[in-house]
Amino acid sequence: MRNLAVVGAQWGDEGKGKVVDLLCERFDVVARFQGGPNAGHTVKFGETCHALHHVPSGVFRPDVRIVIGNGTVLDLARLLEELEGLRSAGIDLTGRLFISDRAHVILPMMKELDAIQEDAAGTGGKIGTTLRGIGPTYQAKAARIGLRLGEALKEDTLADRIANILSGPLGNQLRQVDNAGQADAVAIAKDTAAMAGRLKPYIADTALLLNQWSDDGLGILFEGAQGTLLDVDHGSYPFVTSSNTVTGGLCGGLGIAPTLLSGVLGVFKAYTTRVGSGPMPTELEDGPDGFGQKLRDRGHEYGTTTGRPRRCGWFDGVAAWYAHRLNRFESACITLLDVLDDFDHILICTGYTLDGDPITGFPSCAADAERIEPVYETLPGWKIDTTGIRKWEDLPANAIAYLDRLSDVVGVEIGMVGVGPDRTQSIIRPGSSLAARLK
Ligand code: GDP
Ligand code: IMO
Ligand code: MG
Repeated sequence: MRNLAVVGAQWGDEGKGKVVDLLCERFDVVARFQGGPNAGHTVKFGETCHALHHVPSGVFRPDVRIVIGNGTVLDLARLLEELEGLRSAGIDLTGRLFISDRAHVILPMMKELDAIQEDAAGTGGKIGTTLRGIGPTYQAKAARIGLRLGEALKEDTLADRIANILSGPLGNQLRQVDNAGQADAVAIAKDTAAMAGRLKPYIADTALLLNQWSDDGLGILFEGAQGTLLDVDHGSYPFVTSSNTVTGGLCGGLGIAPTLLSGVLGVFKAYTTRVGSGPMPTELEDGPDGFGQKLRDRGHEYGTTTGRPRRCGWFDGVAAWYAHRLNRFESACITLLDVLDDFDHILICTGYTLDGDPITGFPSCAADAERIEPVYETLPGWKIDTTGIRKWEDLPANAIAYLDRLSDVVGVEIGMVGVGPDRTQSIIRPGSSLAARLK
């Protein structure tokens, strides 16, 4: 059994898409278990660069089956567009794309509600969501009034189901702001059923399929979205997304028992970024000539989904250690190492203090997390272009010393390093458990 999970270990955008695209060559199936079009996973090979939102990053390997699981939320119009974009790029999806009949549908009013809830939160309370309707759709799911993809196919009962959502608390929230709550349930039902109908060839009970495939000996790669610090339970609540982004989320989000998982890879950037609001202890707010802007410029740190500039800072070893505790990574993939190629000195946060006292882990209360003072260690930079390096032993000595220190601080082996966005700009560390898995 060789099923493996690839999970974001920071605040998202760690480079999960690139890692999954690279590794999935060795797998038969790639499955997404949570999130939706809030995700933006970039896959680059040669002149081709794709940003994926719903579709797993295994899609570019023609022999790999791809699954969008029950724990995800789907914007049907955007999903159809995404599939069309892939088809026009020559990607054949026939017989290899499977979408769960239990995934929840993001209805148009969920996007409106996302904006209304953000506006109502006021300065200081805004989460800085992607405005893709993620939160309200998971709200409806938890309130047991949400719409599953399988039900969206049933046009005769769909208008009633939508009218039911509109007459409840979410509908009231819409009506308080404008007359959007008067939305025409019949018209929405018609559109939704038409879009679900176009997806019908792909809709399946994916939990049963995955379990069958696993019994048949196929290898499954589970692709996380967002990152551990955005998990609704374990992240920097309330500045999080609305799903369980930690590895454990895949059990519920796909109907996969923990006993079917044989390992977990954590994806970390060689520094830290975050998009949206909320605590970020190592953020560098040091102006246009500062290191924060230098990281943003060198890493092209602008959101894949929303284009927003990402907040940038040094590697947060405490948050990373915390993420490792929650996911128990077998190995870490450190991406974007090349972004650090041009720094004289590089800092690593190795501890936190709160009101002068050292603390362990990430505080449960956002107000406390905002007051964290990071404790830094300074390491020498390497000032050598690493983008053309393909072997671990060719990395500059100071880069290896930096990676070794990250490994000590987090307590995890480093199995892979990224030195550029392309699929080929990846180095697997010889002797690592990841190297052994890929043999
Ligand atoms: P994801 O959401 O975790 O899949 O990450 P994103 O795709 O949103 O953001 C990661 C960005 O970094 C993308 O633009 C990638 O093309 C890019 N990237 C990934 N790995 C590397 C790397 O090792 N070096 C550089 N320079 N860019 C990388
Ligand atoms: P990938 O999969 C980075 C952030 C948003 C916001 C918070 C809640 O590409 O790593 P939501 O729209 O989910 O309700 O927003 O979560 N966020 C992400 N940040 N990468 C992502 O996905 C994200 N998906 C959501 O910026 O702070
Ligand atoms: Mg992303």
